Amino acid sequence: MNIFITGGAGFIGSHLAEYHLNRGDNVVIVDDLSTGNEQNVTPFLKDSRYRFEKGDILTWEGMEQEIAVADRIYHMAAVVGMFRVLQQPVEVTRVNVQGTERLLEYIARAKNHPMLVLASSSSVYGHVHTSELREGIELVFPIENNALLGYALSKLTNEIQATAYGQAHGMSIAIPRLFNAVGPRQSGNYGFVLPRFIKQAISGIPLTVFGDGSQTRSFCDVRDTVVALDLLAGNPAGWGQPVNVGNSHEISILDLAKLVIKRAGSSSSIEFVPFEKGYGKHFGQILQRQPVLEKLQHLTSFQHAWTLERTIDDLLKRERSQVDSGASVA
Ligand SMILES: NC(=O)c1ccc[n+]([C@@H]2O[C@H](COP(=O)([O-])OP(=O)(O)OC[C@H]3O[C@@H](n4cnc5c(N)ncnc54)[C@H](O)[C@@H]3O)[C@@H](O)[C@H]2O)c1
Repeated sequence: MNIFITGGAGFIGSHLAEYHLNRGDNVVIVDDLSTGNEQNVTPFLKDSRYRFEKGDILTWEGMEQEIAVADRIYHMAAVVGMFRVLQQPVEVTRVNVQGTERLLEYIARAKNHPMLVLASSSSVYGHVHTSELREGIELVFPIENNALLGYALSKLTNEIQATAYGQAHGMSIAIPRLFNAVGPRQSGNYGFVLPRFIKQAISGIPLTVFGDGSQTRSFCDVRDTVVALDLLAGNPAGWGQPVNVGNSHEISILDLAKLVIKRAGSSSSIEFVPFEKGYGKHFGQILQRQPVLEKLQHLTSFQHAWTLERTIDDLLKRERSQVDSGASVA
């Protein structure tokens, strides 16, 4: 199979590349390296079935040509991470909405009809007042104190774009709503919590918890995420509609900090930092995120292989060896 990945040098994109190379597929990625890291994909360069193209999805001239020979496209390129979303709101619309539109237009024109997996996000659930995050529930987006509104709506717009193009052009599009993926190559630079905790615990400095840490999240190892995406892509019954992808094991951020300290055997303490200090006055914290996975389970044979403890142990091991080799990156 010919696989084309936008944002392929990023966290999830690079795992998709690795997964498909391991399965014997040809993989081409495009990435502008805005948050992605070339080192994420350097090991693949020795594989003749792999190619890296540096480019912006809005302007890259090779896009049409690459789509014309692709069997499956994963669209992962986006402005992501709380810090980047808060600091570069215009880029969110430019890349996430216009970039997706450009990609969809080219796919609609392509004679080979490649299948598309378009990454949506649990952020589309906005500030709903239920713990039962099912795909069909009514969505709530307060306008005030909701600094992530632009990102959430860009991802919801992506779903609408995908549905519209799917209907108008008969395109095959899977729309996973991704819930907090974690694992190797995730950067702590853009607001992701687990890589930050891992570094802090290993350095013996306090783990910074925003608010009182009672907000919960459900973390899915990225190596599970990519399997779920592949399975979803393989079942036409799941195309054209959003499907939650994640892990329903829920944990508070305070308990996550404690768990990392414990697994690391670290002497670090926990420091509570007001949300405003980390994210500004109008942030509006989301208190809970736990996916209902019934639809994914109905459509696929997906099973998680990674527990949170195993992921944390793996990340600690990797970070320690990076520190030992003097190559630790954020
Ligand atoms: N990581 C998660 O927990 C999570 C959760 C929900 C949704 N998602 C979605 O999954 C996708 C991948 O996220 P990720 O966590 O791997 O983030 P990431 O930042 O690691 O990956 C995004 C990649 O896109 C690239 N990129 C950004 N703008 C680009 C542009 N204009 N042209 C070309 N490349 C560009 C970046 O350099 C980066 O490599 C995103 O669409 C994101 O919205 C991720």
